[in-house]
Amino acid sequence: MIAIAADHGGYALKEEVKKYLEEVGIEYKDFGTDSEERTDYPVHAKPAIEAVQNKECEKAILICGTGFGMTIFANKFKGIYCASCWNEDVGRLLKEHNNANVIALPGRFINISQAVPILRAWLGSEFLAGRYTERLQMIEEIEKENMK
Ligand code: RB5
Repeated sequence: MIAIAADHGGYALKEEVKKYLEEVGIEYKDFGTDSEERTDYPVHAKPAIEAVQNKECEKAILICGTGFGMTIFANKFKGIYCASCWNEDVGRLLKEHNNANVIALPGRFINISQAVPILRAWLGSEFLAGRYTERLQMIEEIEKENMK
């Protein structure tokens, strides 16, 4: 199960991404927003991120105008690793090198034909482990120091 959430800047792309997930048979849970009316990205991101933290969802897709607000917010949560991706290669590397469990998309800068290869790469790649694990362990140490 994939959590998906957007603000008004990401709403249109979220609706397209949902159609893609349906086409490829990936189940999702939509945490809003439900229109292009102005809203605040943390409101919709929070329950989607918590669904990943509590393992109700395996991963989350967050969409705002740039992907940056969603990314900054998501990375405040323990055990959440997120970055804004704008092409297929960075989507793949986000999983292979960073083992990110959340991806953010810039809804005002990419369309669905650009989003699909990014999602296919992120969802379809495996974490490479090895030296990348050591780096993630360093991040976990900082989490222990700085997060409850
Ligand atoms: C909303 O106008 C916009 O600031 C938001 O979607 C996002 O881009 C923030 O990072």
